[in-house]
Amino acid sequence: MKNSLYLLEELNKDDIKNKKILLRVDFNVPLSKDLMVEDDTRIRAALNTINYLLSYNCTIILISHLGRPNGKIVEELRLNPIAKSLENIIKRDVIKLDDCIGKEVQNTIANINPGTIVMLENLRFYNEEEANDISFSQQLASLADIFVNDAFGVAHRAHASTVGVTSFLPSYAGFLLSDEIEALDKLLFNPKKPVISIIGGSKVSGKIEILDRLIDISDKILIGGGMAYTFIAASGFEVGKSICEENQINLVKQLVSKATNLKKEIIIPEDVHTVLDCGENAISFNVPIEKIEQNMIGLDIGEKTISTFKKVISSANTIFWNGPLGVFEVEKFAIGTNAIAREIASLYGKVYSVVGGGDSVSAINK
Ligand code: 3PG
Repeated sequence: MKNSLYLLEELNKDDIKNKKILLRVDFNVPLSKDLMVEDDTRIRAALNTINYLLSYNCTIILISHLGRPNGKIVEELRLNPIAKSLENIIKRDVIKLDDCIGKEVQNTIANINPGTIVMLENLRFYNEEEANDISFSQQLASLADIFVNDAFGVAHRAHASTVGVTSFLPSYAGFLLSDEIEALDKLLFNPKKPVISIIGGSKVSGKIEILDRLIDISDKILIGGGMAYTFIAASGFEVGKSICEENQINLVKQLVSKATNLKKEIIIPEDVHTVLDCGENAISFNVPIEKIEQNMIGLDIGEKTISTFKKVISSANTIFWNGPLGVFEVEKFAIGTNAIAREIASLYGKVYSVVGGGDSVSAINK
């Protein structure tokens, strides 16, 4: 798969020197209430490409989305804190503009000195971005000579800034994108067995395709997080007030039967950590899934599940993990996620492990 990419490092040096580069990054980072960057992993992840382009005196026009403003200007979702954070990390100026298209943006970029970093405003302030609108793509493309995509986290979306622009500019994969694809290639093609996948996060609906594909490549799939309750409900148990997508239960049953037919195992929690009321001081307790009551909310995998999951993980040669296993933002419901992270870390050097997804990376950084 990586072989089919046009790689930035393969671009002739004379074709890149002093050029204007439209660089799509995924700076969709968590912000605090006072609008500070809470986790700058995604910003740091783009540094290889940014520094490489600076070494050729390129003008870098950074474009990104932040959150889901649905085509409207949302003040809290402006990219200013991200530009500040990048400035602090890279120790040079980042010129932040208040729009991503239009006359003012064009004029600024036309008159800028080579070697400058410019960050445009949140692409999703325009509906045209997610609609992959041709004219929006064209306007973005008109700012630069070359397009570089380093936005791995959003590469599955066919948007104007990821797909549309490639019709108008010579387009290349940045270092982050190509490294991530190389890591996934190892997982998808001839992984060392047994392959154990761990899938969490809140909803099944966002992960149907990934689950379906993972059944093909994994020997066992461990299910945690909010999505586990749809699996628990599909197995016929009460889930109380936990997140449960009733409309996904049939799909979950189909996935389970696909796994059974392929002699693969989907392992759901045997017990969960629940509360009776979601407030800060709610009393929490561990219950087996057959004892979940109507007034309970499950917020983490339970103690027995942690030990079963750890045992399965320790038997792996390849591990893929996507999505936290509980509400990891609250310490007492981060126990499952932390235990699994530590177990995987303890196997460092012995197994090939890939962790993906913004929340999973935040959990690990925490
Ligand atoms: C992410 O954080 O998963 C990516 O930035 C994609 O964001 P999206 O799910 O809002 O498209």
